[in-house]
Order: sequence, then C-alpha cells, then structure tokens
Amino acid sequence: MKYPKLFEKSKIGSIELKNRIVMAPMGTGFANDDGTVNDRVINYYEQRAKGGAGLIIVEAACVDDVYSVPFKGQIRVSQDYHIESLEKLTQAIHEHGSKAVLQIHHAGSTSNPALAGCQPISPSDIPPAPGGNIPRPMTLEEIGQVQQKFIDAAVRCEKAGFDGVELHGAHSYLIAQFFSKYYNRRTDAYGGDFDNRMRFISEIIDGIQKALPSYPLLVRISGDEMTPDIADTLTLQDGLEIAQFLQAKGIDAIDISNGGAMNPNANCDPASYTPGWKKHISKVFKDALTIPVIATNTIKTPHFAESLLDDNICDFIALGRALFADANFAAKAKESREEDIVKCIGCMYCRKKLLVEKVPVECAVNPELGHE
Ligand SMILES: Cc1cc2nc3c(=O)[nH]c(=O)nc-3n(C[C@H](O)[C@H](O)[C@H](O)COP(=O)(O)O)c2cc1C
Ligand code: SF4
Repeated sequence: MKYPKLFEKSKIGSIELKNRIVMAPMGTGFANDDGTVNDRVINYYEQRAKGGAGLIIVEAACVDDVYSVPFKGQIRVSQDYHIESLEKLTQAIHEHGSKAVLQIHHAGSTSNPALAGCQPISPSDIPPAPGGNIPRPMTLEEIGQVQQKFIDAAVRCEKAGFDGVELHGAHSYLIAQFFSKYYNRRTDAYGGDFDNRMRFISEIIDGIQKALPSYPLLVRISGDEMTPDIADTLTLQDGLEIAQFLQAKGIDAIDISNGGAMNPNANCDPASYTPGWKKHISKVFKDALTIPVIATNTIKTPHFAESLLDDNICDFIALGRALFADANFAAKAKESREEDIVKCIGCMYCRKKLLVEKVPVECAVNPELGHE
C-alpha cells in the first residue's frame, strides 16, 4: 500500500470511516428551485462516493428560506418536504461504503437581496465587504428563530439518514459574523466579549445536542481569516480560541478552512499559491486539540495528501476542487494510478461560475461535472 495513512480506517465520533479522505463541502447550484435534491445532485455525489472518498460533506444547505438565498440552486433543509429527496442522496452515498454529513448554512449578510427579495440580516449593520449590501441587525426574537432553524435542520439531517451534521461557521457567513468583532457590534448578550460572541453557536449546539443526543456534530471554521490589515477580523489566535470553546462543548470534529468575505483566496486559492502554503494553520489546531481535525490544503496529489498526515498537519485530509476535477481521485490513488488523476489546475473557473455568474458550477478540466 503506497498511501498507508490515507487509507487507514478511522472514526469521527461514532462515524466509522474507511479512510481519511474527506470531500470538502462545495456548493454546486445543481438543486431544484425549491431546494430539493434531484438526479443531477445525486449522480454527482454518487460518483464521488464510488470514487472512494470515505466521508462526503455535502455542500452548504440552507436553513432559512426567507433570509438566506446566496445563489440559485442551493440545497435546502429548511422544510420537512426536503427530507425525502435528501434521503435518496444519503442512500446513494451509502451504497458505495462512504459516509455522509450535511453542512447546514445561513448566509447572513451575504444573502442576495435580488434573489431573496428582502434586506439580509446579520448581528449588526456591517456589509460583508466595504461597498456590499448593508444588512439589518437581527432582533433578539429573530436570533432565537434562526437558532431554532439550525436545530430543526439538524433533526431533518438525522431523519434523512445523514451520519452527522456540520455547522458552517466559516467564510464570514452568519455564524462567523457572530464570532467576529468586525461584523458583530452588538451590545446585548450576543455581542461584546468572547462568550457573548459565541452565544449564538453555543445555543444552537445545546439545542442540537438536546434534540439528538450523541448525533455526530462537526463545525467548520476559518482557522485564520488572514486579513491582518483589517482590525477586528478573526486571527489564528481567535480561531484557536473558538475551536477550544467548541471542543469543550463536545463537538466531534473541527473542520479547518481559512479566509472570509474579504479574503476568499485564503480559502479557495488560485494556481499561483504553492500547495502547502497554509499548512501551518491546521497544524496549530492539530497540536492543540484532541478532537479530529479535518483540513483542506490545496491538495492536488495523493503523495502530498499522505505527507500532510505523515507530518501531523491534520487527521483527515479534505479535497475540494480536486474532486470537481476528478471524482475518482481516491480510487486511483488506492490503485497507484496517480498519473491517471485529472488534476485541478487552480484556474478558479468553478468559483467564478457559482459566485460571480450565479450559475451552476462547471470545471475547466472536467466537462462531466454536473452531467454524471
Ligand atoms: C465552487 C465552490 C463552492 C464552495 N462551496 C462551499 C460550501 O458550500 N461550504 C464550504 O464550507 N466551503 C465551500 N467551498 C470551499 C471548499 O470547501 C474548500 O475549502 C476550498 O475549495 C479549498 O479547498 P481545495 O483547495 O481542496 O479546493 C467552495 C469552494 C468552491 C470552489
Ligand atoms: S474549474 Fe479550475 S479551479 Fe475549479 S476545480 Fe476545475 S480546474 Fe480546479
């Protein structure tokens, strides 16, 4: 076996995994307008399960139909009628021995008013980036309502057969807006000191743990927003403090990304960034925490992925665009067919499609993406 660490059996909470290869959550825009999952979504994920990923973290799914519409074709888990099609999706993933977690998401200030038909909401009236849409500060009643939407969404995940749920607390979306002194200027119990800024996610976690005791719960955060010139944005020190708080709350794994609305390239980086440039970030979390650390790291080859595990940079390697480019990355690595892997070239065409043109993703090197 050429990649013994990659193909080691492992666990996240009670989820038993056949390897340490995780598919990172990536929005596709393939879902129906009502947020239900269709054959296009199912075939796309089924190919990645068949292609050998041990855990598939299914893309950010919306919890709030009114105030969170970032792009068209987002998967939704906001209503009971979403459960049926999500169940077909989990069955298709499970059929190939992979496990499935759904990432649940609220866009907060990054919701698109043209699509949602209303002003976005956020802890305070701070736009995602200067010049962006100004959100409306949430009332205390709305905070409680949105927290309940996350909890209800987690319950639907369990009903749909997901092996666990991931809260999207990264990339300057609503949960991260509460974490941040830059976005969160509240003077009530949900803003101000660290404990107050953590209260929003903390009460969501309490609610999920009460409704679903022992259901695996993951949280994705930005380890470092990497915007040192912008005061009060989240630093590596803040990321670590947040992760330690979440570990103490009893979550089962931390999923480390980077960047935010003012530095998206720290998350999804163009070809000019050398793979490994941000591995010092996940290493800090791996060294400080006892729960499993999942991390993306601009991985283009199985050899580099194995080296991240060898060097204790993380416990699970997450592949994002590598799995847009080639659904069979893991299977080819297992068969030592590295030369057959179609590599992501970091051209950013996929991100441009979804986030700039607001149409379903396409990949410059994989014309089959979305047509599996
Ligand atoms: C088109 C696109 C959509 C994405 N959607 C999500 C998402 O839904 N949730 C999330 O946490 N990250 C999302 N990401 C970020 C990826 O999960 C990942 O962090 C990023 O692509 C870096 O990993 P990579 O270098 O392996 O691609 C998205 C990235 C891309 C390119
Ligand atoms: S479109 Fe470009 S950046 Fe995106 S996955 Fe394909 S090759 Fe990689």
